[in-house]
Amino acid sequence: MSFKQEAKRQFPKWPIYDSSEVEALANVIKSGNWWCGAPGVHQGENVWKFQEDFAKFQGAKHCIAVFNGTVAIEVALLALGIGLGDEVIVSDYTFVASASAVVATNAVPIFCDIDPDTFVMDVNKVEGLITTRTKAIVPVHLAGNPVEMDKLMEIADKHNLKVVEDSAHAHGSKYKGKHVGNWGHAGSFSFQASKVLTAGEGGAVITNEDELADLIYSISDCGRKKNGYGYAHFIYGTNYRMSEYQAAILLEQIKKFPAQHKLRNQNAQYFMKKLNNIDGIRVMNPTPGTEKLGYYVYPFIFEPEKFGNISKLEFKEKLNRNEIPTDDCYPPLHRLDCFKNMDLRKGIDYSNANWGGTKSDDKNFPIVSDIYSRSIEFPHEMLLASKEKLDFVVDFIKSLK
Ligand SMILES: Cc1ncc(COP(=O)(O)O)c(C=O)c1O
Repeated sequence: MSFKQEAKRQFPKWPIYDSSEVEALANVIKSGNWWCGAPGVHQGENVWKFQEDFAKFQGAKHCIAVFNGTVAIEVALLALGIGLGDEVIVSDYTFVASASAVVATNAVPIFCDIDPDTFVMDVNKVEGLITTRTKAIVPVHLAGNPVEMDKLMEIADKHNLKVVEDSAHAHGSKYKGKHVGNWGHAGSFSFQASKVLTAGEGGAVITNEDELADLIYSISDCGRKKNGYGYAHFIYGTNYRMSEYQAAILLEQIKKFPAQHKLRNQNAQYFMKKLNNIDGIRVMNPTPGTEKLGYYVYPFIFEPEKFGNISKLEFKEKLNRNEIPTDDCYPPLHRLDCFKNMDLRKGIDYSNANWGGTKSDDKNFPIVSDIYSRSIEFPHEMLLASKEKLDFVVDFIKSLK
């Protein structure tokens, strides 16, 4: 068998499902209860059950399920009182949603550079970004790797800032004894198709604060009071409810998660040792204090000069041509066209933003600009493969030298 054919059989495809997801969906259809209803008047049972299961799984008191991970951040910020003109510090190295959710609340995202070892927000740079307008921080546990939440919460408490942990990549990640999402005032999650827990689309907010949980619930359910009369809309709200179909799939996927999570963590450690042994390759370092990592993706950086001055694109293409799947890492937010523009939303004062025009230049975000130029990610399903298959990837990378 050729190298390429051999490689083709390498890696599991995502999502992984069986007849239980199919049955769960069919059961929703047959039940005739196609939405969850209200807490006092349940229709379907899946959303309510998933909220309980996910809160328990993530070690939180409350979970509010919503229809995606972007609105999960938005609703948490709204419930925490973030709004017009407030500044919210966000990691520069993330998917656009971490910042677009801030923009949706009419607040102003302020980008924070990253730590070169862990690729997540450098908490030592946060205080330098705080102004009188700063009201919140959105740390992002990129690739499941926890931000140093103990240090970040000290800063937040000192400056009276709210914290929403964007945990879209970090299902099951645990840092210094506590699952991510429980360190801040709220934690948001995504269940979009590529995520390690998925229903194609979906999201959730967790929190340990009772009043905040009720408020998040109300804003996501048209401003209804929990257990109140359905046509009494006591505050502004909208419809961010999760569907019964999403929850039915998630209830099956969450049963499969623990075994997958364990295998990903075991394989990640094995892979890390082997890859870090290659001169010129360095894998994202788990933040010291991390006990479990969600591993949404598996990023590494390379030194071009150790690989004949290969470009990132060429490196990726060589892997892909040999059927080794890769993902591109996110272009840093300051590089996105929308954040070169100072006119994102009508009527908002963006003059304080640390982006827009020349403020968006890479030199203002040196670490993330360098890391992005040399980083490649493997998708998480690669970590569900056998050790022999991971060895194959390691050998292939060595062959590129
Ligand atoms: C870091 C991060 N935050 C938020 C989101 C938004 O989640 P969703 O796609 O479910 O809206 C994503 C999605 O990929 C993400 O990667």
